[in-house]
Amino acid sequence: MSNPTNQSVGLPQEWIQKKRDGLCLTLEEITAFVEGVTSGAVTEAQIAAFSMAVFFQDLDVEERVALTLAVRDSGRVLTWDRNRLRGPILDKHSTGGVGDAVSLMLAPMLAACGVHVPMIAGRGLAHTGGTIDKLESIPGYQTGVHADHFQRVVEKHGFAIVRQTEDLAPADQRMYAVRDVTATVENLGLITASIVSKKLAAGLEHLVLDVKCGNGAVMQDLDEARRLAESMVAVGNGAGMNTSALLTDMSVPLAWSAGNALEVHEAVSYLKDGSMRHPRLHEVVMELGAALLVQAEVYADKVGARQALENVLDDGSALTSMAASIEAMGGDPKVVDCPEKVLPNAPVNCPITAPRSGKIAGYDVRQLGMAVVELGGGRTQTDASIDHSVGFGQISMAGIQVREGELLAMVHAKTQGQADRAASRFVSALKWDSDEKVPNVMQGQIGFPTDSGS
Ligand code: URA
Repeated sequence: MSNPTNQSVGLPQEWIQKKRDGLCLTLEEITAFVEGVTSGAVTEAQIAAFSMAVFFQDLDVEERVALTLAVRDSGRVLTWDRNRLRGPILDKHSTGGVGDAVSLMLAPMLAACGVHVPMIAGRGLAHTGGTIDKLESIPGYQTGVHADHFQRVVEKHGFAIVRQTEDLAPADQRMYAVRDVTATVENLGLITASIVSKKLAAGLEHLVLDVKCGNGAVMQDLDEARRLAESMVAVGNGAGMNTSALLTDMSVPLAWSAGNALEVHEAVSYLKDGSMRHPRLHEVVMELGAALLVQAEVYADKVGARQALENVLDDGSALTSMAASIEAMGGDPKVVDCPEKVLPNAPVNCPITAPRSGKIAGYDVRQLGMAVVELGGGRTQTDASIDHSVGFGQISMAGIQVREGELLAMVHAKTQGQADRAASRFVSALKWDSDEKVPNVMQGQIGFPTDSGS
């Protein structure tokens, strides 16, 4: 590993100054900076100053690729022995939302279709839920296993979901922690490097990104979401990983439930029973799954890929795949037979009823997500423990008419006081009687062969 004070490359303060003044950094400078982040030779103050300089001056595509590759190489990069695999290595990544449990369903469905999904997932961030928090509501499930165990499970069962550990893209962990507390998260170049480096560290051949837009998304504006998608697609492809993106709506909840154990329960019901599938969630699962299977050339077209995904739902093989991977990760596989007995249940379960008659025109999704956090289902401090049992269930879909007193949702809480507060937050997150149509869940795509590029 080279020394960041190496005179031929320069000093951290010189790279920061160059970026601050709007100049481009070289591959060597970016690599040396990231090596210094990993070794500790670059201080937190320098990471903060660098991030703020990038925030205002941004990175061009070459700089983004260089940063992404350097962060990938800051730790272990998984390699896969094709002789031990039945199909390609692929994954999806969502920029996050409320009720977005897509990974819990899609990973076992893809595994049942014969491909391999090594998923490195995250915890909840701000108002958005995280796949790792959801999985940790399954008793025994170990999200922080050694990379060798992770790889064995992916080889044998087709998929495994783990959290980022010290040995995978460690520079990102340090940079992200500094960005989080220095108002420098929302920069396209930095987000791109952070997300794409972790996917590259997993050794993926194919990636489809699910970039959300709408009031519950990190990038609310569709144009901004499109720019983020374009950046990640360009950098992923530039780094040798076949990458594309779907733009999907997050201005209404994506599922019947929002809350960790409740979403695991919904995922199990989804895999078991066609009548339990939320139409918006189903559409996102099928579109992402079909995009991946076509991109990886497992199927020639979307029609064939969607049929394969329907088949693994109908014949129960996706559910079997879910149970096998959960068991291999230390979790209780009975969660797929009787989720209500295995998953934690909140002591207080109350209906939320409509305060008036009218049409539910939409939701303030960010507010719903924050209500789950306030119930204890998300964090207000890094590393705080959470209550996996709380949240909302049976959430009414936007666009429907309700009568005063009808059920809008169920709230699951630790105390009656918390349930009452969450119920009133839920009601205040509702938008009534507008003529505006609920946006289509599919909002666009980037990087597919038929795209015009817009
Ligand atoms: N998620 C990440 O992993 N990194 C970011 O920068 C933003 C969201």
